[in-house]
Amino acid sequence: MFAERLGKLLGDLFGAKPKYITVPVSTAAPAQALPPDRLPRHVAIIMDGNGRWANARNLPRTAGHAAGTEALRDIIRASDDWGIECLTIYAFSTENWARSKDEVGALMSLLLRYFASEIDELDEKNVRILILGDVDGLPAPQREAVVNAMARTRGNTGLKLNIALNYGGRAELVRAARTLARRVQAGELAPDGIDEAAFAAELYTAGMPDVDLLIRTSGEMRLSNFLPWQTAYAEMVFDRTYWPDFDRAAYLRALREYAGRSRRFGKEKAEGSNG
Ligand code: FPP
Repeated sequence: MFAERLGKLLGDLFGAKPKYITVPVSTAAPAQALPPDRLPRHVAIIMDGNGRWANARNLPRTAGHAAGTEALRDIIRASDDWGIECLTIYAFSTENWARSKDEVGALMSLLLRYFASEIDELDEKNVRILILGDVDGLPAPQREAVVNAMARTRGNTGLKLNIALNYGGRAELVRAARTLARRVQAGELAPDGIDEAAFAAELYTAGMPDVDLLIRTSGEMRLSNFLPWQTAYAEMVFDRTYWPDFDRAAYLRALREYAGRSRRFGKEKAEGSNG
């Protein structure tokens, strides 16, 4: 009870909306707060609420995306500091092209600016960048920036930062099915050779662990065509915070929520285990 009240007080002090806090957390020492064996290997984030954040401040939606990019910078740094193996963020879906020309233009400019300003630090921190999605469908400057970032960081062995860009989950599955069909047609693979491992190997996330924790901000509770295969057994945390306000304290709350969950993968409950 005391811990709950203190947690709420801390949340209020730092401007967060405590939805999941049950015990006070230290943003400075997550390793102490979270045992490494309770950390998710793969975190995926739907960064939602930029538009509403801006609206609430009488700002244009594009200002929300700019503020969201700032939040993203710190969440990436935190993931790296805290030893998360893979972080996948939903930056731009195939459906997002339907937004106004101004908004799409602003998101594309932010993307260029992001890569220009961050790539040196990310590379220095040994972060490996991978784009999930149809890179060929991006405008030339953005395509060039992301292809260069991937090439430059290909050999890095630290945090795997996956940026879903021009990404659609169903399109990813169709793409994998087509590749497998071509391999069967070429006689390289028998139809019965298509198993879950063969399918997963054709996804953008080939070789990576499945998503352990999916976070969506802004209070919306849906997947929106994000990583349908990889999230099959993911734990989900929905936080009411709008993405630009999602900070380390909010991230840590989600990680603590995850650490307290009992993961069963369809089996019977294993006492005291989330793995
Ligand atoms: C959803 O909020 C957010 C997006 C569609 C874009 C997310 C992009 C960023 C945070 C920054 C750009 C990314 C990089 C890698 C530089 P929304 O606009 O749907 O918000 P709303 O639901 O409140 O309208």
